Amino acid sequence: MHTAVAFDIYGTLIDTQAVLTRLSDLVGDKAPAVSQLWRQKQLEYSFRRGLMGDYCDFSVCTRQALLFACRQQQVEISAAAVEQAMQAYAELEAFADVAAGLESLQQQGIALYAFSNGSKAAVRHLLERAGIADYFTAVVSVEDVRSFKPAPKVYQHLLRSCGLPANGVYLVSSNPFDILGAAHAGLQTAWLRRDPQAIFDPWDVQPSILLDDFSDLARQLTAIN
Ligand code: 2OP
Repeated sequence: MHTAVAFDIYGTLIDTQAVLTRLSDLVGDKAPAVSQLWRQKQLEYSFRRGLMGDYCDFSVCTRQALLFACRQQQVEISAAAVEQAMQAYAELEAFADVAAGLESLQQQGIALYAFSNGSKAAVRHLLERAGIADYFTAVVSVEDVRSFKPAPKVYQHLLRSCGLPANGVYLVSSNPFDILGAAHAGLQTAWLRRDPQAIFDPWDVQPSILLDDFSDLARQLTAIN
């Protein structure tokens, strides 16, 4: 069976917590609380907009979530500081295990896709700066279908982009909501548990593969395909 592997970006290949250092310069010792609330609200805004049918570029969710997080934490942030934080978010680094993991999969001849709520332009910029853009056959963005994960139509868009049936595509993500959305759409799934304390939602669905380290993906894919 021909197989393709699609990767979630923020939190899976790209370390969103890496913005913490920059944020500390901007908002001081409340940075950890602001950063965690920022990510939580960014996703919540995308979920709301998906359900409302009110699509906007994911960067709008990111910006509005940052403003919410600062207000909630009673942190003053200037317009210039917001732009600096957004710039840092646009240039996050990849996790240390990603390049070697992608290299190993590419050597096995597996087609690799980047799959994100982020726009194609934003994701390409991230991947190029992180030095991993060349591993991917294509960047697949939800912007083409104007909704957000975990709406079924974004996974159907991914399958059309891969040119494969659902059981021929693996989604790799550190975000359980994304794994559950992909599984609901019939894809194979690999949950990359970046945070050892992370728990998977107690739904009646389990990922096809559980990974604690990216480097284990190539071995597990070889073992089951
Ligand atoms: C993504 O990259 C938000 O992590 C999610 O689509």
